Amino acid sequence: MSWVDIGAVEAVPERGARVLKTAMGCVAVFRTGPEEVFAVSDTCPHKAGPLSEGIVHGQSVTCPLHNWVFDLNTGEAQGEDASIATYPVRVEAGRILVDARALAARSAA
Ligand code: FES
Repeated sequence: MSWVDIGAVEAVPERGARVLKTAMGCVAVFRTGPEEVFAVSDTCPHKAGPLSEGIVHGQSVTCPLHNWVFDLNTGEAQGEDASIATYPVRVEAGRILVDARALAARSAA
């Protein structure tokens, strides 16, 4: 993995999300606990709803447009044959680190 710093964990509200800009494009970062974050695609595969504006519950998010529910660990939609991309992410010393290679692979796709 090739970790890159994409911002402070405090920039993302707890039980909320923010879209953070990286050199490899934007990524939606969800914060489900003080030190627990997930980095995923912001675009719902149904009709492109902005998942970062959805409701965060447990380790899932509900799309704000038509209420599909995505597991932030796997990216899979509950009860639908669809999923979102997930990226390796961790918090270290209050900073959010994401795997640059995974993001770059997405950009190239
Ligand atoms: S756009 Fe997300 S559920 Fe329809």
